[in-house]
Amino acid sequence: MKVFEIGDYSKGLALHAVERPEPVPGHGEAVMRVRATGINARDLTIMHGSLGKTVMPYTRVPLSDNAGDIIAVGAGVENIQVGDRVTMSHYWQWLDGDWHASMSEQDYSATLDGFLAEQVVVPAAALIRLPDSLSYEEASTLQSPGLTAWNAVVEAGAARASDTVLTLGSGAVSVFGMQWAKMLGARCIITSSSDAKLARLKELGADLGVNYRTNPDWPGEVLELTDGEGADIILNNVGLGEMENCLMAAASNGRIMHIGANPVVHNQEPQEPPVLTKLPNLILKNLTVRGIIVGSRRMFTDLIRAMVRNDVRPVIDRVFDWDDVYGAIDYMQSGEKIGKIVIRVT
Ligand SMILES: NC(=O)c1ccc[n+]([C@@H]2O[C@H](COP(=O)([O-])OP(=O)(O)OC[C@H]3O[C@@H](n4cnc5c(N)ncnc54)[C@H](OP(=O)(O)O)[C@@H]3O)[C@@H](O)[C@H]2O)c1
Repeated sequence: MKVFEIGDYSKGLALHAVERPEPVPGHGEAVMRVRATGINARDLTIMHGSLGKTVMPYTRVPLSDNAGDIIAVGAGVENIQVGDRVTMSHYWQWLDGDWHASMSEQDYSATLDGFLAEQVVVPAAALIRLPDSLSYEEASTLQSPGLTAWNAVVEAGAARASDTVLTLGSGAVSVFGMQWAKMLGARCIITSSSDAKLARLKELGADLGVNYRTNPDWPGEVLELTDGEGADIILNNVGLGEMENCLMAAASNGRIMHIGANPVVHNQEPQEPPVLTKLPNLILKNLTVRGIIVGSRRMFTDLIRAMVRNDVRPVIDRVFDWDDVYGAIDYMQSGEKIGKIVIRVT
């Protein structure tokens, strides 16, 4: 079966296809035939050789988003059967309850081989059955950006219909954040470097748009648009470089979700954080700054149920075929997309 390995990244992207033996499930495991996968910002980072302190072996198979069907199960597997259409989160050990940092040691595409492969051995306990109404392509957008935005807006953010949710950029996490906010009846302000993208985002549901490139004082514009109040929930999908602006744009009792961790723009280091001179806003406005790490299997199950009940469809910019993986990566690096890029595997 065919997989893609990241290769010798010392001189740049070296992703290449190799043949591996078909995997055999062990006790408690199943084999997923991957039908669709998606590229995320972190995948480009991984393909360049590291994620945080984790240095990648050249043989690492990237991509954490996934949807497929089960073609074999190992001994002791009772929750899932051959033929089931499934998906799972890449931090597979977070099934329910509280997160623990040790769970990051089991991370599909970072510490374990990921889903840019025809078949992957997966832990049966992590699997979630897909409803018929979700296609493989749609389901393969959810694991990283959909679930992260769900955690930020619904779980940690506890969004209410009376809230204003501000979400940064037109990337995958941001667009899902907009969709979850609108699903709950909240008002959504979204930012982008492009007026054309902002126009499209309004068609997709955003109430208001702010161009952070043409207006470097975008927090000031957010305050104007909210009659001086600011945003109740902010998805900082960029990183510490935008934290001070988020503090400025927040409403009293606002909740700022610190999500962006890797460069959101290819070949660009994450923005250096300014000295947080506006930190007193934390006290004056009674703000909460909260780190978000994807979400649990239980949250993922809730997300899928809510999507089906509310007929929410992921925003897929383009679907690439299995023989055009490099085209998908080039398009991801171009920065032209809104929402998600998907690769149809078989
Ligand atoms: N904490 C977690 O668990 C978690 C989970 C998933 C992702 N992440 C991280 O979240 C970030 C976003 O991921 P993604 O998959 O959504 O990325 P993405 O789809 O590649 O989106 C990147 C977008 O960010 C926007 N952007 C760049 N610089 C910006 C700035 N200064 N201000 C506002 N927007 C800016 C751009 O939007 P425009 O083109 O519209 O300007 C760009 O298209 C990445 O750092 C990723 O590693 C973290």
